[in-house]
Amino acid sequence: MHKRTMIQAALAAALLAASSLGLAQDNKFRIGLILPMTGQQATTGRQIEAAARLWMAQNGDTVAGKKVELIVKDDTSVPDVTRRLAQELVVNEKVNVLAGFGITPSATATAPIATQSKTPEVVMAAATSSITEASPYIVRTSFTLPQVSVVLADWAPKNGIKKVVTLVSDYGPGIDAEKYFKERLQLNGGQVTESLRVPLRSPDFAPFLQKVRDAKPDALFVFVPSGAGAAVMKQFVERGMDKAGIRLIATGDVTDDDQLNEMGDGALGVVTSHHYSAAHPSAANKKFVEAFEKANKGLRPNFMAVGGYDGMRVIYEALKKTQGKGGGDALLAAMKGQIFESPRGPVYIDAQTRDIVQNVYLRKVERKNGQLWNVEFDVVKDVKDPGKAK
Ligand code: PHB
Repeated sequence: MHKRTMIQAALAAALLAASSLGLAQDNKFRIGLILPMTGQQATTGRQIEAAARLWMAQNGDTVAGKKVELIVKDDTSVPDVTRRLAQELVVNEKVNVLAGFGITPSATATAPIATQSKTPEVVMAAATSSITEASPYIVRTSFTLPQVSVVLADWAPKNGIKKVVTLVSDYGPGIDAEKYFKERLQLNGGQVTESLRVPLRSPDFAPFLQKVRDAKPDALFVFVPSGAGAAVMKQFVERGMDKAGIRLIATGDVTDDDQLNEMGDGALGVVTSHHYSAAHPSAANKKFVEAFEKANKGLRPNFMAVGGYDGMRVIYEALKKTQGKGGGDALLAAMKGQIFESPRGPVYIDAQTRDIVQNVYLRKVERKNGQLWNVEFDVVKDVKDPGKAK
């Protein structure tokens, strides 16, 4: 055997052994939460960890007779690190569930580990459509970029936006956003005249925005991952794009609740589509936002936090349903088809695709009581990931 194949075989054996022993004889239920706690995606880690801890504070740490233990690891959003941490968590710590995953490459890098060890992988953040196809053990509680992009592409032409330039981060979710927005806009009689892609790491938006200014479209459509929105907004305003009559439309990742308040008046009026706003006017959400802020020195929860909070619920419910006796396959089966009211609104985990089905809202940035909010003004209900429809 090749050395590499031998290592892989040994690893697969270790992973499988870990999975059968995984139901460690002790009375613990371990959740390995892998997140970017440092680096460019650190706000995602901070939001999701805080939400997971809030869930546990509100719901206790004993479920079906098991003591739930959260083991948080920082992958710095480097996928090789994510994979290594996932492996260690499964083999050494005998985790029952892997969860977190701040960016798409981290989620997909872990997929083979989930498959080989039969460990459910609950994706709480990453949002490229194809992620759930990388392993039958993946369940997603975040969203997908096609899900939210098509809703905006339906809204735009009805609101005077026909000619659009797209600007996305050059990796999975950005390419999904670009493709699904463009196809749907064309279907609706609009046109994407130019598609620009900016690097994920240390992006400089200035040269791209200059190009957009010269092209003079009705609007610029943007996707950048959570944490990068404020930089886009700042440069958009600094370059006088809005004064040149170019509107900014985006997925809600750009007007991220984690940063929105710091974006200033330049963000006012920006229309986005997304599955969660901290301003969502339901009793469940008001309770969630209040409790989250109280537990985190006033930090406002964003869509990442909700993905983490709901992911914990899905894990807890699966543990309850299997009465603490199930292995990875039983837990996975108990995650499929779950239906509940999230702070974002009603949702369910599609049993076939293991992806979340949810409302997608159209929102506009408004100032209320001195703060900026994504105020919802329309909704498309029960949107499935269009990426799975083929
Ligand atoms: C992703 O990498 O899948 C991702 C990260 C941040 C977002 C959306 C998608 O806001």
